[in-house]
Amino acid sequence: MAESQWSDKLSVGDPGIDDEHKTLLDLVEKLRNATRSGQGRDEVGQVLDELVSYTVAHFAHEENYMCEIDYPDYPQHKAEHERLLAQVRDLQERFRLGSITITVSVSNFLSDWLFYHIAWQDKKLVTAINAARQ
Ligand code: FE2
Repeated sequence: MAESQWSDKLSVGDPGIDDEHKTLLDLVEKLRNATRSGQGRDEVGQVLDELVSYTVAHFAHEENYMCEIDYPDYPQHKAEHERLLAQVRDLQERFRLGSITITVSVSNFLSDWLFYHIAWQDKKLVTAINAARQ
């Protein structure tokens, strides 16, 4: 897919979080393009590092936000973030050690995990965000 996977259907109702999700999806796309166009290991590694650090910052932001609005499913959502982060950090580490290369299928995997997390887990925030606004 040449364009970001973002669509209004993914909106959680908070412009700040939505913008971060757009950036994340764009970063995954950037990674996919870097692997697809056969860019060098350094370039691919740089995009992967950028994706991991942005994900860390975004998850922390989202978790603070969930605490602020007393989101009832916070523990479960946080556990999901930790699981996702562990997976992507593991990929990053194996890439750094040279035991894997980031292929199109690895970037597709990352793209899917992010997309489904936003579409299924983050979308559940909509009701809580709207309620907190009233
Ligand atoms: Fe999330």
